[in-house]
Amino acid sequence: MSTAGFARRDTALRELMDDPACDATRLRRTLERFAVVNRLVSGWGGVYREHIRPLARRRAADGTPLRILDIGCGGGDVLERLIALARADGAEVDAVGIDPDARSLAVALARPGHRADYRRAHSSDLVAELATGAARFDVVISNHVLHHLDDAALATVLRDSDALARSLVVHSDIARSPVAYAAYAVGITPLAPGSFLRTDGLRSIRRSWTPRELAPALPAGWQVLRPGRFRLLAVRGERP
Ligand SMILES: C[S@@+](CC[C@H](N)C(=O)[O-])C[C@H]1O[C@@H](n2cnc3c(N)ncnc32)[C@H](O)[C@@H]1O
Repeated sequence: MSTAGFARRDTALRELMDDPACDATRLRRTLERFAVVNRLVSGWGGVYREHIRPLARRRAADGTPLRILDIGCGGGDVLERLIALARADGAEVDAVGIDPDARSLAVALARPGHRADYRRAHSSDLVAELATGAARFDVVISNHVLHHLDDAALATVLRDSDALARSLVVHSDIARSPVAYAAYAVGITPLAPGSFLRTDGLRSIRRSWTPRELAPALPAGWQVLRPGRFRLLAVRGERP
């Protein structure tokens, strides 16, 4: 593909995993292997150290649990890793992973020793629960969810995460580029057989934002950060 094909998001592309009738075995393998892919490409160790660790240490010092929400948690590997990192810093963690897709949640719940509470829900369901007295979260995150969303769903997820987070929101995703596309096409080869990782990963990259495109879609008080060449973060820090 020429670089001209990356000049704008290709939102007409549909990922195979977003088809409710897709092959269940391939989908399960895809979700399970996200654990490896995320470890290699998503950079959550750095996001934890830079953005979440100060909150975890604050919670460890005052003896109250760090409350984390993962929106579109998929197989739960990112959330479980964050729990482990915060516990290693001495914090108790109270974590919830939500996903509208029951097939994703089944993989998260089958993860040996999982610590988070996994629920089939949309972020708007949790916002509705705030009105009944449910507590907000210290940290709201997502990984590889923004590029799945159309403009209306993006606005909803940003508004909901803003309402649900007391201290910090971090939505992490791919930064679209032809170099990311070429590197992924080669790098995913050993993990791809029998899964949707190749097709959906490449479609994901073509559906993703560049930092310059995403910035104007964010509400006031949010910013786009570029933690690495192939990544972007939509971040909302602590409200004054
Ligand atoms: C590519 S997967 C990423 C899963 C996981 N976060 C990870 O990084 O491995 C995208 C996930 O977003 C979920 N999703 C799609 N639309 C969503 C929405 N409007 N709100 C929340 N999650 C959504 C899907 O069900 C799917 O599990």
